[in-house]
Amino acid sequence: MSNTIVIFGASGDLTSRKLIPALYSLYLKKRLPGDVRIVGCSRSPFSSEQWRDDLEKTTEKFTSEFESDSFKEFAASIFYHKLDIGTIDDFRSLFRFLNEIEGEEDATRIYYLSTAPRFFCPAIENLGIAHKEQVELGSDVKLRGNLNRRVVIEKPFGNDLDSAHALNEKIHEVFAESQVYRIDHYLGKETVQNMLVLRFANSIFEPMWNRNYIDNVQIICSESVDVGRRGGYYNSSGVLRDMFQNHLLQLLMITAMECPARFNAGLVRDEKVKVLQAIKPFSAEQVGTETFRAQYNGYLDSEGVPSDSKTATFAAIKLHVENWRWQGVPFYLCSGKALAKRSTHIVIQFHDPPTLLFSDGPKEHWENNRLIIQIQPDEGIRMRFTTKVPDAGMDLRTTDLDFNFADEYSKSMPDSYQRLLLDAIKGDASLFARSDEVEFAWKIIDPIINTWDQSPTPKLYGYKSGVEMPESCDQWMHFQHKSWWKE
Ligand code: BG6
Repeated sequence: MSNTIVIFGASGDLTSRKLIPALYSLYLKKRLPGDVRIVGCSRSPFSSEQWRDDLEKTTEKFTSEFESDSFKEFAASIFYHKLDIGTIDDFRSLFRFLNEIEGEEDATRIYYLSTAPRFFCPAIENLGIAHKEQVELGSDVKLRGNLNRRVVIEKPFGNDLDSAHALNEKIHEVFAESQVYRIDHYLGKETVQNMLVLRFANSIFEPMWNRNYIDNVQIICSESVDVGRRGGYYNSSGVLRDMFQNHLLQLLMITAMECPARFNAGLVRDEKVKVLQAIKPFSAEQVGTETFRAQYNGYLDSEGVPSDSKTATFAAIKLHVENWRWQGVPFYLCSGKALAKRSTHIVIQFHDPPTLLFSDGPKEHWENNRLIIQIQPDEGIRMRFTTKVPDAGMDLRTTDLDFNFADEYSKSMPDSYQRLLLDAIKGDASLFARSDEVEFAWKIIDPIINTWDQSPTPKLYGYKSGVEMPESCDQWMHFQHKSWWKE
């Protein structure tokens, strides 16, 4: 079986930084199934040769294992076709081109929308029209429901519930849900997939993975980068749309979901959706107490940001998954830009022991038993527990049992796009977001954004670039008799 990946938005950053390097790495590892052709489309006037030359330079920059001869071999299957997404004639000519390079073969086609979101709808509409014309001419199979025709959609998927719903409806006019692959690159991270393995391929964690043993869960994603030159986009998005609605809620779902009966796209996503359904959207009053927002000092000077912007670049929210497993266990989600370092962790904080038998134990709150899943960097898992300091009476100390992927497997972690592209080519949608998942996520995030937009509560705090955590957010946590896990 041969495959054609058609990338719309081919001249963009994502294509050269992520997509082509990921496909090239898969090619080097001989992971690509059958023949794979790549057709890039955008309005820029390139020839295929020029595009290959450009990609050779960028791929060398963005992959660790580049080698010119093998790239040239790989690039022989790369083509470029100039196309304006709003012009149906360009799609007709694209289809003629695709038929030509595919020949008589019944190739699987993956339409990858790596464009600005405003082009998603016109691209889908025109794909539908061009396909329909082909069917009428008897030269191709129908599009809707044909699993050999898939569409991959980049984020952001909508701007709120209404726009996400409208986009889903538009997509479903042309493609069946089983043909749609909505990207959340966090799901392609090895450590996020390993979270499923940790939970469902080991038996020791399951008995403790509930409200009887767990005090709270913290999902913390710190970024050292500031908004840089993305101020225009970021200011209308803010941290909740940029990180929470997608990546952090995905991590929450993977942490809280039940074990599916089988590992397939339908059953995995059913279980994930149930987690979101168990979270009650906040009232405006709850937004005041259960959420925290802040903006780093200096954000207002960024390119594209209005000088009176109230956009939050840091947020923390406390969510409750109201089901039997999780009743009463707060899930704290936290993310921000311009912090001390880049690190993402899921911290499972277990209850304190019921009595403190050893009076010489740590004087501060115990907080001893913790499972820390290090999503990135230094990917690994750490279990924290109390031990006796040798030859020191009954002095106790918290110590770590440490597992690190790099030490164990001595391999670097592949970029998440490798896994996601390969799954899209193979037709496995388990690690992609389904339409209902995306809409439920917006149902949780929308009321927070709406209240933030309209009300002065919670206060928008400021914080200094480079801090580990805004001090006011530590206080917000202390107010709830908890504290953030810090390295
Ligand atoms: C993107 C956001 O989706 O994820 C960025 O738009 C953010 O603002 C990035 O920096 C974080 O991804 P990662 O893989 O670097 O944690």
